[in-house]
Amino acid sequence: MSTQFSTSSEQWSSSWAFMMAAAGAAVGLGNIWKFPYITGMNGGGAFVLMYLICVLILGVPLLMAEIAIGRLARKNPAGSIAYLAHQEKRSRAWGLIGFWIISAGFLILTYYSVIAGWALAYEVLAVREGFLHASAHHIDELFTSLLAHPAQLILWHSLIMIATTLVVARGVQKGIEKTVMILFPAMVILLVLIAAYSLQTPFFIHGLTFLFHPHFEKLSAHNLLVALGHAFFTLSIATGSIMMYGAYLPKHISVAKTSLFIAAADTFVALIAGLAIYPLVFAHGLQPAAGPGLIFKTLPLAFSAMEHGNLLAILFFAMLVFAAFTSTISLLEPTVAWLIETCAWSRWQAALVSGSVAWALGLLTVFSFNIAKTTTILGLTFFAAIDYLTSNIMLPLGGLLIALFAAWIIKTSVMRTGLNIRQKYGFYLWLWTSRIIVPIAILFVMINVLGLGA
Ligand code: PHE
Repeated sequence: MSTQFSTSSEQWSSSWAFMMAAAGAAVGLGNIWKFPYITGMNGGGAFVLMYLICVLILGVPLLMAEIAIGRLARKNPAGSIAYLAHQEKRSRAWGLIGFWIISAGFLILTYYSVIAGWALAYEVLAVREGFLHASAHHIDELFTSLLAHPAQLILWHSLIMIATTLVVARGVQKGIEKTVMILFPAMVILLVLIAAYSLQTPFFIHGLTFLFHPHFEKLSAHNLLVALGHAFFTLSIATGSIMMYGAYLPKHISVAKTSLFIAAADTFVALIAGLAIYPLVFAHGLQPAAGPGLIFKTLPLAFSAMEHGNLLAILFFAMLVFAAFTSTISLLEPTVAWLIETCAWSRWQAALVSGSVAWALGLLTVFSFNIAKTTTILGLTFFAAIDYLTSNIMLPLGGLLIALFAAWIIKTSVMRTGLNIRQKYGFYLWLWTSRIIVPIAILFVMINVLGLGA
């Protein structure tokens, strides 16, 4: 690496644009697709409680650290961390943390785009046919048949990757900002409409109990790791996205308030999604532990029996596609910025190359649902292995390293400027949480799992 650090010249046009982009990155398939099914697979209430604790105690300080690091250095995550280490007269090898998190985000993108493709396929299905009066058998068939046909999955995955690449290639203001400023508010409006509908269903209380009544006996070390990994995944922590978006930030914004806003918006959407989905699961006698197909099987079934089912289906899947799309953009941007700043490529070149590589790696996920269904790594399909590796190993470790770097390596005076916290106590609260609580909590959870051989 040369001693020259190239800095990004891009910037959000307002702090509002940053908030939309960051909340758009955070809210996505993680909240609406993944949260309900992993909650189902991990026993409900106690898992939700652990996840909420992780968001608040570990997630918020890490969001703050990432935004501050990005804003202080104004580079891609690897460049930013290497630059700040260099300022502190430390080894630039610290920049490898940035490389680690960019890689995590890139790997997530490869499968995320495939799942976003399912949402797009269902949107088209909802518009063309609708699910009204469809039988349970037919709805089950639709999902099974989508997954069984690689060509179809590749088509939808390609559309998502092409759109993502084009938006990122147009740049921060003209591409990303313009897109999220329309899609994020549209997504919120659609979600509120759907949730309002679900609130009136008779099984609402069952959903509420499942989500919030903790059964601590169902909690294991492995569940804890999944809750921690999901908290990071859903907040987009340790994937480069938030740090990258922080690099395009104007100086004056309050990092603490912004981080709380992102965490609150994200949690709110996850809980609303759970509250909208579980009543339907119970109303139709379905299993909460149905796995990744949960919302694709339950929701169409519910729509099939509802008065305005067709319209709701169109709204719901549109919302899901919008939510996913503001996340895929944020997953690609750090790699693109890294290529621009490290290899001196043009934005178009960087976007096209990284978009194509992510697309190609996405085929592993596509095939893991059909022709390579039985090919496993340590008992997991490609899709499950990439998901496990990123959420349960790369993100927790990345979060741990970010906390150590931000709170122990960067001088406190520098961090305080980066975080823009005026009150002393507020800053010390962040500092000691990040120095002690975050690393110990992550280590505790990870060691426990290893110790149990899970
Ligand atoms: N947070 C997004 C979601 O919950 C996924 C994501 C992860 C986006 C990492 C960007 C970075 O769907």
